[in-house]
Formats: sequence, C-alpha cells, structure tokens
Amino acid sequence: MIGTAQALVAPGKGILAADESTPTMAKRLAAIGMESTEPRRRAYRELLFTAPGIGEFISGVILFDETIRQRTTDGVPFPEVLRRQGVIPGIKVDAGTTPLAAFPGEVVTAGLDGLRERLGEYASMGARFAKWRAVIHLGEGRPTTACVEANAHALARYAALVQEAGLVPIVEPEVLMDGAHSLERCAVVTVEVLRAVYEQLARHRVVLEASLLKPNMVLPGQDSPVRAGDDEIAEATVMALREVVPAAVPGIVFLSGGQSDEEATARLDAINRMPAQPWELSFSFGRALQAPVLRAWRGDDANTVAAQAALLHRAALNGAARRASYRPELEKVAVEPPATS
Ligand code: 13P
Repeated sequence: MIGTAQALVAPGKGILAADESTPTMAKRLAAIGMESTEPRRRAYRELLFTAPGIGEFISGVILFDETIRQRTTDGVPFPEVLRRQGVIPGIKVDAGTTPLAAFPGEVVTAGLDGLRERLGEYASMGARFAKWRAVIHLGEGRPTTACVEANAHALARYAALVQEAGLVPIVEPEVLMDGAHSLERCAVVTVEVLRAVYEQLARHRVVLEASLLKPNMVLPGQDSPVRAGDDEIAEATVMALREVVPAAVPGIVFLSGGQSDEEATARLDAINRMPAQPWELSFSFGRALQAPVLRAWRGDDANTVAAQAALLHRAALNGAARRASYRPELEKVAVEPPATS
C-alpha cells in the first residue's frame, strides 16, 4: 500500500478523476449537447483510458462503479486497459452526500454500509486505491462543528476499511468554493476541517504513510468581489496544509473544484514554486483535466484523436506544474504523443 501511495504521486504525474456518478456525467454530456446513455458514457471513458501515452503524465485513474465494470470495444476490461498503460486503477466508493439531519444546508457523505464487501469486490477487479469525498459548505454559521465532525468521522471509518482491504485511501474533504467568502475565511475553515480529519484518522488507526489527502486549494469564494493572485493562493494553501497535515502523508493531490483548467494548472505550479514541503504536491483533477477533452470531442467519433490529444496536452501541462515549470505560453504548444505509444 505504501508503494502504491508513493507511485500515485510519482514525479511529474498525477491522478485523473473520471469517477463522475451517472447524474454528474449526464450534466457534463448535456453541456456538449449529448444525452447520457450507458454506451455513450462507455465510449467517452474508453477515449480517456486509451489515449496513447497517458501513463507518461497520469499515475492513476479514479473509476466509478459503472465504469470499473465496463470494457473497451475490443472487450478489454477498463482496469486492465489502464494497467497496460502503466496507470493504477482506483475506485470512488462513497455514495454521495445526504442532508445532515437538523443542520439545514449541510451534508454528510453516505456509503459506509456494505463498504467492506464492496471493497473486496473492487479489489478483485483490480482497484488499488479508493476515494471518498466529504463536502463542506461555507456560509453564515456554516460549517457547524457537528457537520465537520460527522464528515471527518465517516472519512476515517472509510479509510480504515480501505486499508483493511489492502487499498490506499484518498481522503477528500472538500471545502466548496461556492459563496462570497474571503480567502482568509476559506483558510480558517480548511484548517479546521483538516484538523478534525487528522484527529479522526489517528483515532481510527489509519496508517498515514499508506494514504493520500485530496483537499481544495485555499481560494476566495467564487462570488467574492476580491480576487486573489496565484502566488497568494499558493502561499495560503501551503500555510494551511503545513499547520495540520502530518509529514507522514506521502502526497497531497488537489481537486480542481470548479477552477478553470488553466487556473488550476497555474496555481498548482505556484504551489510547487514554494520552498520544498514534506509531501509531494500533485493533482487529482476531474473537470480541470476533462473540460478540454469534452470540448474537443463533442460526442463525435471523428474527434476522438483530437480529444485524446487535448487530454494528453492538459495532463502534460499539469505534469509541468508539478515540476514548477509550467508557463502560460505552453498552453499554445502542441504536445507530441510519446514515441512509445
Ligand atoms: P474536480 O477536479 O472536478 O473538482 O473533481 C475532482 C473530484 O474527484 C471531486 O470529487
């Protein structure tokens, strides 16, 4: 497990989150004017996973329950296709959020019931890591202590079960960027949430060396009138993490959370320009990796090669950000597929 956690944050690589639930995938496909059907979702995921040379910049892919069971047109199971690309297959195991009783506007993540059995099945299908996302809304009087504690407790119980099954847990507490809050307020809440999470992980005997953290970057709310520069965001993010994330954690893989693809990359680059930290600072992007792919594909097979090139390009730029060598000028430079493809 420790080796898997380290491989997921290997230099120059990061994780592709392709674990959109069926309703979320329907939204993504609707945005390019497509109806979401099982064959279309399968075709789209096949495009992602068979992109030539994807293993150069992508260490792992997070799958959804439907996706881990699907196969390529040639009949190869998706986890096997990823393995052949040198990519580690992972699986989202939470069951989404549900309203927290007695706390209007707050949610807790479901999915602990039957998790041990599901993990056994996913492991037998080739999954080597798992993901569980907790969602924290920031607003007037929110988050409450009850909400933070309920979510931290569920994350710890999930992580312990995942390690019991021999997989690496990605622990994802996301403080949403919805709202008009300041960067400072996001920093305070992010620290509070991470503190509660690491307390619970310790209490539940989770081995930190065999886990990864997937947090939000520290950002002003998207409706905040005050914008923040990339360096300011990088500094606030690293300072918040340093306060609470133990050095035993091998890597921190940021979610993109609604930032544009270029913003997410530029900020990851700024984070990696800061003085060296105890953990690898990498990415586990969903939208920030897939938005350009969907734009290029638009549901048309004739665009498959262009869409795969868009994925490779975005992944390469994020790989560059890991080495603090991203430049906005690189956005315009075509990336040659690696010769090994
Ligand atoms: P985004 O990068 O689109 O936020 O998705 C990452 C993810 O896995 C959210 O759970």
